[in-house]
Amino acid sequence: LAISLCHQGQAATDAPNIVLFVVDDLGIGDVGAFGNDTTQTPHVDSICNQGVKLEHDLAAAALCTPSRTAMMTSR
Ligand SMILES: *[C@@H]1O[C@H](CO)[C@@H](O)[C@H](O)[C@H]1NC(C)=O
Repeated sequence: LAISLCHQGQAATDAPNIVLFVVDDLGIGDVGAFGNDTTQTPHVDSICNQGVKLEHDLAAAALCTPSRTAMMTSR
């Protein structure tokens, strides 16, 4: 049991942290890390600066409901 717990602990530290933001009406130009200098987004900017900043995104639809449905169902 102890070996199993230690192994699980090691695996947990090796796993990446993934944060997914699902935000209505937020454009890429609204976040400081993506070039907006009028809206202050220090926490999101910090995540971008310390992690991976993805600059190409695709959505299943331009509207909320179908894009959320696609994300929740993987379709
Ligand atoms: C910054 O974000 C605000 C709020 O969405 C928007 O009105 C403004 O046009 C943006 N500025 C730039 C340079 O994109």
